[in-house]
Amino acid sequence: MRHFLDINKTDPADLRQMIDHAREMKQTRAGLPKGTPDPEQPLKNHIVALIFEKPSTRTRVSFDVGVRQMGGETIVLTGSEMQLGHGESIADTARVLSRYVDLIMIRTFDETSLIELAEHATVPVINGLTDRTHPCQIMADVLTFEERHGPIAGAKVVWAGDGNNVAASMIQAAGQFGFDLTFTGPGQLDPEAVFIEEARAKGSKIEIVRDPEEAVKGADLIVTDTWVSMHDKVSTRERRHNLLRPYQVNERLMGAAKSDAVFMHCLPAHRGEEVTDAVMDGPQSVIFDEAENRLHAQKAVMRWCLGM
Ligand code: CP
Ligand code: NVA
Repeated sequence: MRHFLDINKTDPADLRQMIDHAREMKQTRAGLPKGTPDPEQPLKNHIVALIFEKPSTRTRVSFDVGVRQMGGETIVLTGSEMQLGHGESIADTARVLSRYVDLIMIRTFDETSLIELAEHATVPVINGLTDRTHPCQIMADVLTFEERHGPIAGAKVVWAGDGNNVAASMIQAAGQFGFDLTFTGPGQLDPEAVFIEEARAKGSKIEIVRDPEEAVKGADLIVTDTWVSMHDKVSTRERRHNLLRPYQVNERLMGAAKSDAVFMHCLPAHRGEEVTDAVMDGPQSVIFDEAENRLHAQKAVMRWCLGM
């Protein structure tokens, strides 16, 4: 059974194959209307369940469109309308859904829900974001970086701001794809040490540099994300903003990186908070290619999961 639960739980050769496959599939669709069926229809006669226990724009639409392009159908479910939200166990939900659908994507809170679903499902399960990681996002980010800039292996990536779920997957990717990563943010919001240790053990240089301008020196890619994630308590907003304000990605910070450095943000962005309009809309920003690439990367992930 091929689940896609985390960047670290997937073999580096498989990750590479998925990125290359995504790029090929993207090229064959260039300029076509979005609903044009792919030349191959690997998901013909397949049904995919998309479960959302948190809001989503990109993940929801890109999975749905990707399944349709590959000839399959989707069922989109929100946590509150399922028995899952009313006391049915995750294990039983996994067993039941596996009798109806061929693949399950879930966006949830605690990572243990994802793991439990995968343990009891008899069809592949894909992580569509948990409080702890967001691997589909980082597959799209690697694809986007390589389209614009060339191989990511050996590059220097700087994560600015909150050491959150998306940062965690980016650090895992550093270890798996062989790039270096500098985290710049307040000590109170550092990524979990285990992510850093695992990437270092795979040979990547992972540094923490508190001064953002120092951190971005030599950077090929600067990435940030919202200062308040969906799992963060609203009551922490002011404290988080106060801690994170020095790490805003603005033109001055971009100017301290390499002149051809790229800017990424998984979106949704809070313009004027973690990033300025000038950077979001500037020549170094690839945010909308990054959003589009969710579609192509996830199609490759789904095909890998189903062995197609
Ligand atoms: N980047 C991302 O996962 O966006 P959504 O929350 O809109 O799915
Ligand atoms: N860190 C953000 C990412 C949203 C795609 C969150 O978890 O809310």
